[in-house]
Amino acid sequence: MSTITCKAAVAWGAGEALVMEEVEVDPPNSMEIRIKVVCTSLCRSDVTQWESKTAVPLFPRIFGHEASGIVESIGEGVTEFKEGDHVLTVFTGECMTCKHCSSGKSNMCQILGLERRGLMHSDQKTRFSVRGKPVYHYCAVSSFSEYTVVHTGCAVKISSTVPLEKICLLSCGVAAGLGAAWKVADINKGSSVVIFGLGTVGLSVAQGAKLRGASRIIGVDTNPQKYEKGKIFGVTDYINPNDCNEPVQQVIKRITDGGADFAFECIGDTGMITTALQSCCDGWGLTVTLGVPKVNPEIAAHYAQFLSGKTLKGSLFGGWKPKSDLPLLVDMYLRKEIQIDEFITHNLPFEDINKAFNLMREGKCLRCVIHMPK
Ligand SMILES: NC(=O)c1ccc[n+]([C@@H]2O[C@H](COP(=O)([O-])OP(=O)(O)OC[C@H]3O[C@@H](n4cnc5c(N)ncnc54)[C@H](O)[C@@H]3O)[C@@H](O)[C@H]2O)c1
Ligand SMILES: [Zn+2]
Ligand SMILES: [Zn+2]
Repeated sequence: MSTITCKAAVAWGAGEALVMEEVEVDPPNSMEIRIKVVCTSLCRSDVTQWESKTAVPLFPRIFGHEASGIVESIGEGVTEFKEGDHVLTVFTGECMTCKHCSSGKSNMCQILGLERRGLMHSDQKTRFSVRGKPVYHYCAVSSFSEYTVVHTGCAVKISSTVPLEKICLLSCGVAAGLGAAWKVADINKGSSVVIFGLGTVGLSVAQGAKLRGASRIIGVDTNPQKYEKGKIFGVTDYINPNDCNEPVQQVIKRITDGGADFAFECIGDTGMITTALQSCCDGWGLTVTLGVPKVNPEIAAHYAQFLSGKTLKGSLFGGWKPKSDLPLLVDMYLRKEIQIDEFITHNLPFEDINKAFNLMREGKCLRCVIHMPK
């Protein structure tokens, strides 16, 4: 196996437009696979990390973590995948053996969990370089490249009948929202639910809540364009905080007789976690936070929120064990039990990837699917 030279969208600095570069992609090491990326969608987490001036600067870097592709080659010891297999990448892996993977209670793999240093889990090195300079990875996926190398534990095999240009959304945002509703909150029939942020993640929570028979799904978003889309996924009431004469939590408490059963923070604003907690009912109100904040990482809440019986939970990837659980969601999509296509508002060729970043920053898209050259 040899090095592949291909095009990748490289970020050279925080918030700087990505540059199409010729990069060298190493062959996969032991227990790794090299993937030809077919489609990758842009998730808010890519934008947040790329824009961040406070994070440790890891540049040059290749972002992208919501992706589908085809196995191009396999490293030593790989038996689970073969050349030509269709796969989804996963930004948090599953080794199947560590304490968390074998617990049945957690998806926080101790070996292949969220990778923050921009390196491969196995040897703490990169598999990309540009003009001899190493290029950092992102979340052990880096799908804004025609080819990428991932650990076998960070990919899931899927049937070749599944449309790769749609299913890439299950690789992060849609699965994260559905899991928050089903696995983390375990929403029951007749519940009242409030969702802060109606992007793909928030609207996936709405879809999950609707399928569980929630009676009321209140969507809170400062961008009124999100409401029309919200109706498709089950949002029954819309609140724009900018149109309210009182704090949004008061409005929610009034219309839900003391607070919602469940609240979800899907914006990436820690201040909104406080608001979400305040919007829940006493006794059993549960707030689930999914957002990744751009600034102010600390959460503030009055202790009385908890004395009154409320709970605050967080979740990564909706609590799903990626390898064990993702195939079930793919099957649900094939049986038309969950909607995915409806989240795709834009499609762009790879060379226009910066346009996708602009669409998301301007609040004009849900998911933009980026198509790699054939
Ligand atoms: N926990 C996870 O596993 C996981 C997975 C994917 C994404 N995320 C995070 O979830 C969040 C949502 O992701 P997304 O891709 O849906 O993002 P998005 O940008 O598409 O959606 C966010 C929505 O929040 C709205 N919003 C922004 N500020 C607001 C405010 N002050 N009040 C009300 N609404 C406001 C925006 O108008 C937008 O509709 C991000 O922080 C992302 O990083 C977490
Ligand atoms: Zn994501
Ligand atoms: Zn593990």
